[in-house]
Amino acid sequence: MTLHDETLAPAYPMERTSPIDPPPPLAALRAGADASQVTMWDGSRVWLVTSYAHVRSILGDRRFTAVTSAPGFPMMTRTSTLIRSQPQSASFIRMDDPEHSRLRSMLTREFLQRSVEDMRPAIKDLLDSTLVKIAAAQPPVDLVARLTQPVPSQVIALLLGIPDEAQDYFTERSAVLIDRGYTADEVKAAREDLDQFIREHIESRIEEPRSDLVSKLVVEQLRPGNLTIDEMVPMCRLLLVAGHGTTASQAALNLLSLFTDAGLADKLRANPDLVPGAVDELLRFHTIVQNGLARAATEDVQLGDVLIKAGEGVVLSLSASNRDEQRFPSPDTIDPQRADARRHMAFGHGIHQCLGMWLAKIELEEMLHAVLRRLPDARLAVPFEELEFRHEVSSYGIATLPVTW
Ligand code: HEM
Repeated sequence: MTLHDETLAPAYPMERTSPIDPPPPLAALRAGADASQVTMWDGSRVWLVTSYAHVRSILGDRRFTAVTSAPGFPMMTRTSTLIRSQPQSASFIRMDDPEHSRLRSMLTREFLQRSVEDMRPAIKDLLDSTLVKIAAAQPPVDLVARLTQPVPSQVIALLLGIPDEAQDYFTERSAVLIDRGYTADEVKAAREDLDQFIREHIESRIEEPRSDLVSKLVVEQLRPGNLTIDEMVPMCRLLLVAGHGTTASQAALNLLSLFTDAGLADKLRANPDLVPGAVDELLRFHTIVQNGLARAATEDVQLGDVLIKAGEGVVLSLSASNRDEQRFPSPDTIDPQRADARRHMAFGHGIHQCLGMWLAKIELEEMLHAVLRRLPDARLAVPFEELEFRHEVSSYGIATLPVTW
């Protein structure tokens, strides 16, 4: 197969035919080849990798770079083109080691499973008080607007010490960065606004440190000279942008599954100990980073029958790999007791594996517990067919989730 054979390079991303399953051609590509050529929105050709084994091996392979300015790097959206034009403000998700690990390691301790467990009581309280208010409201209530959107943003704001009154502004600006409905100029403006907002927040903590993560970074890294404010701005922006929309989208889809899959709700109600496993299973099943992760080869790499040449782009489909029947039997079924569900690829793999995964899991677990407890009779207030799904390039989601009880 050559890079220029148009008939063999379908457009990517592909269209879904069902709101809860990945586009069907992905399964055919997974069965047919180790990697397939696809055509991106800007006309460029890249390799698409769909099997669990190959996605995992490439994400763990240092011969692939995450640096967007690298030759052949796939441009998933117009935003990625913009990011490529501003390498000086890249965050560590777009860097290779050793620079990536120099910056990531400054945050690792705060995001360890045992560290974020300390946040569980506060997250539980936040969810409980939010659900008490929802339960007291007149149904129908939109759980996206009232629960799944605001809570992850409030959790990150809590982590970073963002003042309550600034949260709406921050949420609105970061939404522009992850939505494909905006022009390149609008995206650029939102990014600049957000950077300015974060810089002012950091400056306030330099003047007067408190107990939040930004203050810890100021005291432990910035003051001793390990980190500059110019590096800290994209680092904090990454936490805001990576941790909000993702968790919000996943949470809404989890609740949708809870309300539409009676077997799932019954099992979790009968045995709440199944909730952590169910959260991993729902992460696998929905895989909200639906179009996958981009990398470029820096050396020639043989992947099964395919030779990926240095300077060629690769897209790793997390959705396809999480529905790979070779790894997960009956992959299109949600099984909260699935053995090894936690080996899913929804958080990626390798050096860039999601830093916030333990925090996200706590939020998602506590949200399921809280909804089961506080809204035991909740059900969809509209027919499933009327729900509006959001097909953003970076993540999949649902626009509103009206429920009644
Ligand atoms: C990286 C998914 C929540 C912070 C990633 C990656 C994925 C991902 C797939 C890998 C990107 C790559 O390899 O290019 C998710 C999902 C989430 C979630 C599905 C929720 C359900 C969070 C939260 C935070 C966070 C809550 C923090 C508050 C990060 C950071 C990285 C990252 C900092 C970059 C890690 C690195 O480059 O070393 N996430 N994420 N994420 N995520 Fe998450």
